[in-house]
Amino acid sequence: MTQRVYLFARFERFWHWSQAGLIIFMAVTGFEIHGFYTLLGFEPAQELHTIAAWALISLWVFAIFWHATTGEWKQYIPSFDRLFAIMRYYSVDILTGAPHPYKKSRLHKHNPLQRIVYLSLWVLINPALWISGALYYYYNDWGPWGLAPYLKLEYVATAHVVAAFLITTFLVIHVYLITTGHTLFAYIKAMITGWADLDEDSAQES
Ligand code: HEM
Repeated sequence: MTQRVYLFARFERFWHWSQAGLIIFMAVTGFEIHGFYTLLGFEPAQELHTIAAWALISLWVFAIFWHATTGEWKQYIPSFDRLFAIMRYYSVDILTGAPHPYKKSRLHKHNPLQRIVYLSLWVLINPALWISGALYYYYNDWGPWGLAPYLKLEYVATAHVVAAFLITTFLVIHVYLITTGHTLFAYIKAMITGWADLDEDSAQES
């Protein structure tokens, strides 16, 4: 038996989808700047990448504030509870239709693998993107700011591209995993409406 639970707040859904849209847009413009293809033209891609960067950084600031003030940051505290069972589930058991070893609830909506991956995004990949991106953007100010002796543009660019590849890889895997709910669109629907069907035990805990 399942029960409907309000799992994702309005701001959380807004933040999730706008972040997804901005990151896809920044991957499209960024990899054009990098020279992989020509779509919008180099200069428009540069200008649009910069505008989207300010939007994404502002969104992250609001999201950090929201997580800090609502206590939702606790959802990212790492846990190793049944981590190997979950890794086994995603690599083997999912193919046999076995049940998911983790039952999520309102208070524990990320399984341990999600906690580790999302925390790495927050503390490693996102900061790597915005710090390297900001250094890139303010390249002409390195001299006046006294940074020129310590930094090299090629290192900053490499760090930015590596972080861009990592977040794009995350996105591809994430899109696959969100289709693995009890129906193809169950997880996507929950992130649109906020409501998810949970097992009765988890629903009671929620
Ligand atoms: C919010 C943080 C970000 C900031 C501040 C930022 C800023 C920048 C800047 C200033 C450039 C150089 C543009 C130029 O040549 O004038 C750049 C390039 C680039 N960005 Fe971003 N960016 C951010 C996020 C992203 C994201 C999310 C992606 C991909 C998913 C991305 C992918 C790229 C790529 C691939 C390049 C080309 C780098 C190269 O070839 O040297 N960026 N970014």
